[in-house]
Amino acid sequence: MILKATVGHLTHWYRDNKRDLPWREGKNPYQIWISETMLQQTTSRAVIPFYQRFLKSFPTIQDLAQASEGQVLENWAGLGYYSRARNLHKAAQIITEQGHFPKDVKELLELPGVGPYTARAIASIAFEKPVGVVDGNTIRVLSRFYGWNGEWWKTSGRQWVQETMDEWVSWGKSSEVNQAVMELGASHCSPSNPSCLLCPIKKNCQAKNKNLNKDSYPKKKPKRSFEIWIWQPEVCQHQGQIALMKNATLPFLKGQWILPGTGTLKKQKPKSYDYTHSITHHKIYVQVKKNQNLRAQKGLKWVPIKEVPRWCPVSLVQKALRQGGLSC
Ligand code: ADE
Repeated sequence: MILKATVGHLTHWYRDNKRDLPWREGKNPYQIWISETMLQQTTSRAVIPFYQRFLKSFPTIQDLAQASEGQVLENWAGLGYYSRARNLHKAAQIITEQGHFPKDVKELLELPGVGPYTARAIASIAFEKPVGVVDGNTIRVLSRFYGWNGEWWKTSGRQWVQETMDEWVSWGKSSEVNQAVMELGASHCSPSNPSCLLCPIKKNCQAKNKNLNKDSYPKKKPKRSFEIWIWQPEVCQHQGQIALMKNATLPFLKGQWILPGTGTLKKQKPKSYDYTHSITHHKIYVQVKKNQNLRAQKGLKWVPIKEVPRWCPVSLVQKALRQGGLSC
């Protein structure tokens, strides 16, 4: 009974307070898929301009499937995690070949780059399948509501969150319940200083009623220690073209086109460097080398300077080019 009422209050609040976001205008699975993939990286507000640019370039899944990888990457530039853009492109080709957009979690999970969160978000938001989503927001809201501070990053903890979200979803429309819990996590139930007085489900919230320390709900995941890397890219220009190489050795930007050069794992940061850049737990100290003669080296791709962002839109590389006196 409590759960039914709670979900009722929450979805009511969601209907009255939800933000007008461009991907909420309809139920187009393609648009929902793109937005949910982008939303895994950053906030709704930050995603809007990227989403609009992407949809303007590729209004339909067929447009995305037919584009070149370079065009897709160019339209993803600034969002990071470029493997996600490559996977969207591959998955769009698979879906257009199949001739229909997958509706079930099981089918969706077979697509490259579609994990449990995205599969469940698409299945529930676009197709109203009764499945709950687990993300940072839903973990936080449930952890506080039940006063549960289990280890959500482990299988058993994740399973608890998943089963609980599935139960919540069963008391309403899954598209609404999932988005309402996420919306609450992105607004009143924020990580620090939550606005409990404004919360639509405060009546039965354990964290509020027992005055639990909100910072401990959910439990903090132990941090992975970071690694120090020195990267020495070579900015080699020849007749208006720049040499690029597919990265097969560095643990960051794996499989992507970057500048040729060497990377070394270190115990300490170097005394001098041009700039630093962080990618996940890699702290990268960059020492740019100019005018190296690489013309004979195998495995390089020569790209006109203006087209470099299309092949490697990552800011780590763009900064190196600027250091090397080039702008693209
Ligand atoms: N965060 C990620 N996807 C979301 C959605 N559909 N609604 C609210 N917050 C979200």
